[in-house]
Amino acid sequence: MSETFPKVAAKSPAVLDLEPGTYWWCSCGLSSKQPFCDGAHKVTSMTPMKVEILEAGKKAFCQCKQTKTAPFCDGAHCDL
Ligand code: FES
Repeated sequence: MSETFPKVAAKSPAVLDLEPGTYWWCSCGLSSKQPFCDGAHKVTSMTPMKVEILEAGKKAFCQCKQTKTAPFCDGAHCDL
C-alpha cells in the first residue's frame, strides 16, 4: 500500500463546545468521528494525540491534519 497519511478529513476546523476532560485527536484523518480518533489509524503508522481540556469552552480542532499547532486549527486548510 502506497497511501500517504495524514489524509485531509475536512478543509475546515471542527469548532466544538467541550467540557473539561481527556480527548484523543485523530492525527491520521481516517476517523469517521472527526476530529477525534475512532481507531481507524491501525492501518497506518500514526497514533492519536492526547488532548487535556482544562476549561470548558469552544475549541477549533484541525480536520485537514496539516496544522502546525496540533490539535488546533492554525488556518493551514486555507492553503489546500
Ligand atoms: S483514527 Fe486517526 S488517529 Fe486514530
